[in-house]
Amino acid sequence: MSRRPLIAANWKMHGTVASVQAYLEALVERVAGSGPEVVVCPPFTLLPAAVLIATGSEVAIGAQNCHWEDAGAFTGEVAPAMLAELGVRWVIAGHSERRQYFGESDATAGARARAAQRAGLDVIFCVGETLEQREAGETLAVLERQSTAIDGLDPAHLALAYEPIWAIGTGKTATATQAQEAHAALRRRAGEMLGESASAGLRILYGGSVKPDNAAQLLGERDVDGALVGGASLDAEGFWAIIHAAPGERRGAEE
Ligand code: 13P
Repeated sequence: MSRRPLIAANWKMHGTVASVQAYLEALVERVAGSGPEVVVCPPFTLLPAAVLIATGSEVAIGAQNCHWEDAGAFTGEVAPAMLAELGVRWVIAGHSERRQYFGESDATAGARARAAQRAGLDVIFCVGETLEQREAGETLAVLERQSTAIDGLDPAHLALAYEPIWAIGTGKTATATQAQEAHAALRRRAGEMLGESASAGLRILYGGSVKPDNAAQLLGERDVDGALVGGASLDAEGFWAIIHAAPGERRGAEE
């Protein structure tokens, strides 16, 4: 089983209808089927335009969140089927900003991810420790607890993202060694949750201040199968440079 690198852009609450077209047209032109898989996750309002531009290309469009019910009285929420109907292919679940500012828990993040897969979407499920947890030596225990939420997910439509909270938007990237240690632990944990063969094929992305100048080193680690990029993905050139830094070949899980 091999793991094709996956590079995903999380625009967070940035972007305009006016900017999405030029950005995606530039990207679509460059991304070929043989390199890393590329996903762009703009805010909900930009999804229809983004899907329209990316359709028929090698760039897939993702959303940043979805609800766990198919429909209902949930003001302000968006159901996974609504995203699927648009042509959205991916959704991010459990991002630390959702956990920190909007009360997301392991349980609700897991429920969102399962609902997304039921609607046919692929999921990027985020985990990561705070600085306090890292300094207290709790990193691996936190990752183990958070990844309990992937129970019951279809590994064929799942990627994990290790995003240490202290590295998000701070310019402080985890070292390649810190990332590799966390990713290896997550892969072991995924083996317990999803089975060994699924875990060997599971892509585990790193996120947290990934930039064009540190991407190659992080992506060179054995268990780092891609990146979830925030700030540096807002600029099409910068995001392309990160895509370009990913190993071109598909990595064999047995290597
Ligand atoms: P930055 O790349 O801006 O640190 O954000 C990372 C992130 O949270 C991606 O989901």
